[in-house]
Amino acid sequence: MSEESSTWYKDAVFYELYIRAFADGNGDGKGDFAGLTARLDYLQELGVDCIWLLPMYGSPLLDDGYDIADFYAIHPDYGTLADFCTFIAAAHARGLRVIVDLVLNHTSDQHPWFQASRRCQEPYTDYYVWSKTGQEYANARIIFLDSEPSNWTFDPLRGEYYWHRFFFHQPDLNYDNPAVQAEMLRVMRYWLDLGIDGFRADAVPYLFERAGTNCENLPETHAFLRRVRAVADTEYPGKILLAEANQWPEDVRPYFGGDPVDPCLPGDEFNLGFHFPVMPRLYMALRQHDRSAIVDILQRTPPIPGNCQWCTFLRNHDELTLEMVTEEERQYLWREYAPEPRMRLNLGIRRRLAPLVDNDRRRIELLNSLLFTLPGSPIIYYGDEIGMGDNIWLPDRNGVRTPMQWDDGPNAGFSTSPAESLYAPVITAPPYDYACINVAAQRADPGSLLHTIRHFIQVRKLHPVFGRGDLCFLLGPPRPVLAFLRSYGGATLLALHNLSDGRQSCALDLSAFIGQVPCDLLNDATLPAIGAGPYAVELPAYGYRWLGI
Ligand code: NOJ
Repeated sequence: MSEESSTWYKDAVFYELYIRAFADGNGDGKGDFAGLTARLDYLQELGVDCIWLLPMYGSPLLDDGYDIADFYAIHPDYGTLADFCTFIAAAHARGLRVIVDLVLNHTSDQHPWFQASRRCQEPYTDYYVWSKTGQEYANARIIFLDSEPSNWTFDPLRGEYYWHRFFFHQPDLNYDNPAVQAEMLRVMRYWLDLGIDGFRADAVPYLFERAGTNCENLPETHAFLRRVRAVADTEYPGKILLAEANQWPEDVRPYFGGDPVDPCLPGDEFNLGFHFPVMPRLYMALRQHDRSAIVDILQRTPPIPGNCQWCTFLRNHDELTLEMVTEEERQYLWREYAPEPRMRLNLGIRRRLAPLVDNDRRRIELLNSLLFTLPGSPIIYYGDEIGMGDNIWLPDRNGVRTPMQWDDGPNAGFSTSPAESLYAPVITAPPYDYACINVAAQRADPGSLLHTIRHFIQVRKLHPVFGRGDLCFLLGPPRPVLAFLRSYGGATLLALHNLSDGRQSCALDLSAFIGQVPCDLLNDATLPAIGAGPYAVELPAYGYRWLGI
């Protein structure tokens, strides 16, 4: 296998989808594997490489499946194990890979392990983190600030407190117990044996607890995660692991493993890691008409091993998290992007991409252009490729998890069930109503957002520089312009973005490329040859260009 094909994920475009929300195959109002399998042509046509599935396991669904009661079952709403295997085979037949969520940190309180642990039944007594006082680990922050007053909850049955970093009904597993580690490696092997291509590992910073620390990113946690990687590499070569660690870049760096002093040595922990802090800064830079926030965070991002990759995103199934910004920046982003209190949740914003930018096509495209040209493998959140809206009146994060809008027929083509049986209402409020915003309409319209995103993916696939190129900012142009070079294997991409609502003229120092003739990768137009002086390019309001030189 060549170096490039063994690191396919560096060139990949990911597509995140919630099985419940995507397509209902049996008419019960809930998405399922039969429905998803029937819609795979759409994803193939879009051109994405890898589907990331939100949890599909046995669960009471109090945290949409991140509360797992049976690691070995497919949730009955979504079909059977056979349906799951049919889906994997159908995806693979279309050249699509599939990764699924692996929730290592916690289970549902309905999991039989927890029920046995509450009763001190062996061998489960120490499967969870128990305390007689509930006073330990006071330095650990509370993540779900809106709903949880403490990381400890008292269990009257056992007469002790149990530890949980998320909802009270999601007790954390005790990784100091070797049996727990063995159980979770077994879970992982089970799904890899069924042919998936890897995992998005949920909430990895919190596996271990130690007194006097904030209980995040501990050395013990990294040691276990390296074991996970070793199992994947030795028993399932080619499978990938993507870390969800909502942390600063210097704290995420160790999740790639390898040697921080010599970034050339290969990583031995995660193949991929989300770059959380860059995301809110894309929105900040856009609102401030100033590239500084993006430049600063990427300049402070340490190098990662050559076999590793960042994953970037504009939105996902959670609130737009503002954990990785300062208090002042958070207040600013809340003010600008979530003016109504209902739009806010925890330390974030429960809105989708299109409503965040007032459904302004120019800004939606600009943000996507940044996503596609900055370092990292982009992840598209289902529905954002057609500019779906949200419903902030639904509880928790459900407002960004509404049914996929396929057409203007009943239930947006998502389900044949009566509307009142849908797991969540479809969006009917203009301008995001499904009569207006849907796949069928955009498929038929060559000028649609769907076609633009498809085109972005096609162009990106032709040029490995997008996934693999290094990054060099050109700081000469005015601050509303973000200009940067990406270079790989003799190819160079010059990406230009105008973050402002006014026209911008750039005079670029391209003296390293004198004599070259840039080509606009998005429309194949050639530009004037690069000469000795500054190179002039004009950008319309919120304009962007991808130039190959
Ligand atoms: C991170 C997931 O993205 C989120 O949806 C979930 O609520 C928490 N982990 C807890 O499992």
